[in-house]
Amino acid sequence: MRLSVIGCGYLGAVHAAAMASIGHDVVGIDVDERKIASLSKGEAPFFEPGLPEILSEGISSGRLRFTTDMSEAKGAKVHFVGVGTPQVKDGYAADLTYVNAAVDGLLPYLSDGDIVAGKSTVPVGTAATLAERVTPTGATLVWNPEFLREGFAVKDTIDPDRLVAGIPAGEAGDAATSILREVYHPAIDKGTPFLVTDYATAELVKVAANAFLATKISFINAMAEIAEVTGADVTQLADAIGHDARIGRRFLGAGIGFGGGCLPKDIRAFSARAEELGRSESVSFLREVDAINLRRRDRAVQLVVEGLGGSVFKKNVTVLGAAFKPHSDDIRDSPALDVAVQLHGLGAWVTVTDPEALANAERIHPQLNYVADRDEALRGADAVIVVTEWDEYRRELDPGHAASLTNGHVVIDGRNCLDAAAWRGAGWTYYGMGRP
Ligand code: UDX
Repeated sequence: MRLSVIGCGYLGAVHAAAMASIGHDVVGIDVDERKIASLSKGEAPFFEPGLPEILSEGISSGRLRFTTDMSEAKGAKVHFVGVGTPQVKDGYAADLTYVNAAVDGLLPYLSDGDIVAGKSTVPVGTAATLAERVTPTGATLVWNPEFLREGFAVKDTIDPDRLVAGIPAGEAGDAATSILREVYHPAIDKGTPFLVTDYATAELVKVAANAFLATKISFINAMAEIAEVTGADVTQLADAIGHDARIGRRFLGAGIGFGGGCLPKDIRAFSARAEELGRSESVSFLREVDAINLRRRDRAVQLVVEGLGGSVFKKNVTVLGAAFKPHSDDIRDSPALDVAVQLHGLGAWVTVTDPEALANAERIHPQLNYVADRDEALRGADAVIVVTEWDEYRRELDPGHAASLTNGHVVIDGRNCLDAAAWRGAGWTYYGMGRP
């Protein structure tokens, strides 16, 4: 089927390439010429495992191309809108400028019977407003949220846990349902649930899922705070409660908390939207989820100070990690970098290393010292803090080898990902998050 994808950022670029890889004829459209030039050469403008392969494959097969020209959307049957909805500069709400611009830009090229499929994460109520502009063209608006995780984006797009589509009732809606089923037929044929809802439900499914995940992380981080004053071990606690299938162990990793381009901004936008709807009390707990999350970054900084005897001033601190999570070069709202910047603010000489995110980090926080080689970064450190659980630090860094490089032997495990006994055995003073 001929598809267009408006917005070739994280979501759109992956979606375009993934749709081509399952056999569709796809044009990706974005206003950013540099991004389009890079994608047209089969080069991913960001780090995402598996993406370069499906990009090159799509381009060489002729099923995938990229352009800055919106008129090339004409002729596609389904137009996916995957532009960003960042947090507004002066508050918590989602900025819908790009979504509105994408839909308005698309209107002149829509034909009768086309589908406009919104994928961006938007405040509930947005789709209904956009439908008023799309419907007069004869096209049908559907809301088809995306649940991909960075680092697993290709797999999550081709083989998702579930597909959700907010589709209006009636004949046009029924036709849209059949077309979307055809688009996603490889996943649906494999048994992936395809859930058809109204607009508001589809929009809410996305924010509710992210709010739940964020709450789960902050719940265990709240338990870490209690563990810290009682001598309990939050990782054992998580293991034990996680055995209850109703709770489950995933997303119970205590540490410096969540970051990235989605969870933090989505829970804030949800709070802002609930307030507009006169229901702020329904999600007031999300303010607490955010507050707990931010406190854990401060706690990690406090542990470095404690480990260095009360001050980090003019001490060498090596920060292992910059990305908001492993398998990503994304530093948006990265707890890892927040910790590094706070330590710098306290007068420490901070050296940051990361396998993928250094260039992005350096652009935003040029005041820190960046060293690509892990061992070079460790050399002469008075304290080491792990803030992104890359395998390079979690599995592949031998504590004895690390000890031979550093000056002091204090390690703060901001992700509870190290083998505490092995590090202690190699002479390190080990601090975990919510662990004795
Ligand atoms: C998230 C959602 O998982 C995804 O479904 C949605 O589409 C977009 O937002 P992503 O931002 O890629 O995906 O990252 P995710 O894997 O959810 O991790 C988010 C943050 O939570 C990371 O900073 C991670 O380090 C942190 N995290 C995750 C924890 O602190 N503890 C955990 O147990 C799990």
